[in-house]
Amino acid sequence: MSESIVLFGPPGAGKGTQAEAIVAATGKPQVSTGDMLRAALTAGTVLGLEAKKYMEVGELVPDEVIIGLIADRMNQQDARDGVLFDGFPRTIPQAEALAEIASVSLVISIEVPDESIVERIVGRRMDPDTGEIYHVNFRPAPSEVVGRLIQRKDDNEEAVRTRLTAYHSQTSPLADWYSEKGILKTVNGNQPMDDVAAEISQLLL
Ligand code: AP5
Repeated sequence: MSESIVLFGPPGAGKGTQAEAIVAATGKPQVSTGDMLRAALTAGTVLGLEAKKYMEVGELVPDEVIIGLIADRMNQQDARDGVLFDGFPRTIPQAEALAEIASVSLVISIEVPDESIVERIVGRRMDPDTGEIYHVNFRPAPSEVVGRLIQRKDDNEEAVRTRLTAYHSQTSPLADWYSEKGILKTVNGNQPMDDVAAEISQLLL
């Protein structure tokens, strides 16, 4: 089986921000369950509409929905040499299902304290044309794209608090699960983006 990488961390840790450079360095396609669910929602599919009620309030979408989505994605041609998972797995059952369909060689855990998360999430803006991720303070968008930026529906303080609760109760136990397998590597996500990227690039050597 070809080797995949998992990007792990709380909401707003910088997984999406760091994914681009990892894709460039490894050639592995990014597989973001959040992006896949948002695409399904925009397309108005049954799956998208089912996921919407969980996503908007910040709760996790049920495991069986996510596992089905990933199983389909891993059957695609570009996944044959492994992928970069972003935001998946998020529960022990998801990790167990993943172990059946792909081999994971590295889990990069981006560590950021809760007190930094709300500011990051509430200030996040996305460019719907390019997928680029900006922040009103930490990564301001160029003036020519500012007019088209959007804010995710779940990027409000109330939903972020629910997402953090879900992370601590359902997702963070995965760190021990992967640590026991000897493949978990942590980076300090509470520093400038370029410094986080430099720490990650050391793990990819
Ligand atoms: P998902 O889209 O995966 O959201 P998330 O995990 O909450 O992660 P985010 O996208 O919010 O954050 P990120 O770590 O990518 O941070 P980013 O780089 O954007 O999931 C959304 C929802 O879908 C879930 O709540 C759930 O309902 C559902 N879902 C998805 N996958 C699921 C699964 N597997 N199982 C069940 N349900 C699932 O950065 C954030 C901001 O901070 C940006 O503005 C950025 O510019 C800024 N920033 C980044 N790095 C830094 C830095 N070093 N310093 C300062 N600012 C920074």
